[in-house]
Amino acid sequence: MSTAPIAAPASADLLRRAPKVELHCHLEGSVPAEVAVRLARRHGVALPTADAGELYRYEDLEGFLAVYTAVSRALATPADLAEVTHACLVASAAEGLRYREMSFNPTNHPSMTYRQVLDGVLDGVRSARAETGVDCRLVVAVNREQPPSVALDLVRAALEHRAEEVVAVGLDHDELVGPPAAFAEAFALAARGGLHRTAHAGERGDAAEVAAALDALGAQRIDHGYAVLADPGLLARCRTDGVHFATCWSTQLFHGGDGSAIAGMLEAGLAVSVNPDDPPMFGTSTGEELARAGTALGWTPGQAQQGVLAAVAAAFCDEGDRAALAAEVRRGFAELLAPPAVGWTAGSGTCASAGSGAGPGPGTG
Ligand code: ADE
Ligand code: ZN
Repeated sequence: MSTAPIAAPASADLLRRAPKVELHCHLEGSVPAEVAVRLARRHGVALPTADAGELYRYEDLEGFLAVYTAVSRALATPADLAEVTHACLVASAAEGLRYREMSFNPTNHPSMTYRQVLDGVLDGVRSARAETGVDCRLVVAVNREQPPSVALDLVRAALEHRAEEVVAVGLDHDELVGPPAAFAEAFALAARGGLHRTAHAGERGDAAEVAAALDALGAQRIDHGYAVLADPGLLARCRTDGVHFATCWSTQLFHGGDGSAIAGMLEAGLAVSVNPDDPPMFGTSTGEELARAGTALGWTPGQAQQGVLAAVAAAFCDEGDRAALAAEVRRGFAELLAPPAVGWTAGSGTCASAGSGAGPGPGTG
């Protein structure tokens, strides 16, 4: 990302309204606490607390994942999944979201088959698209705390029940429990079936986890990946190979970071995007996440646009969709940055002092 010395940093307000592309957001992590409590009560699912104000408080990743797993169980029917999928996409579209690749964990919903889970999620994706235009593709996420045989069955189901929205497999949950190598067979099957691959690694595991995700799983993107900074050789490899890191500002702070890992990854020349991960569970949102990261890192509008375009470049879509999305992002930033038209001269059909439309400055892609 280049620097633009004469451009002022983008305001939080501009970043909240800017067009956005997300590569790392979990459906089950996108359930508002009140909705989780309501659905858990309806289905008789136990949550750590029935107090919505307390539910999303945890000390560490294990505590978070325990709540995440319980909330997943509270999404017990296709209608529940359709409701939360639609709601989170519509809310994010109002904060500038144009395109998201959203993970979902089918095996975290034991009351449903893969087909039922998929149908519910697709219902929400398609109704949100019809309502707002937001484009959501799906990542079938393997819960690495479950046995590799479960992952293999999941990939088989994903290949049997194809949907055009499903573009990839992912690997999530606790990387200190399920090493990437255990899921090599499932990921190889997914690759043969034409699905892309992404994996959580180096979030709190070390750089070897990132290398294992690349080598054993053929991961094309890494979710989080902060530990890559600890291994200069791996870092150089990732830079050369253009491995994309779908980082999460608020989650990184939750883990005790201060954002310097993400800043360091950008300075090292890695391909990096900023994503909300599990927005309500980490107290963030689509708009808030870019505003927090961008203001903390002092991004100019041009640099913010570069960040969004980095996500476009790494999206698991075809080149036609990618070009259209990049153009939409550029147009959205240009509209935000254009000075407002003032002094409309009635009857003349001309505008007295509309600027020529300030571009986002040097350094924009
Ligand atoms: N599932 C949802 N969010 C996650 C995270 N931050 N790390 C691992 N697994 C997750
Ligand atoms: Zn995640």
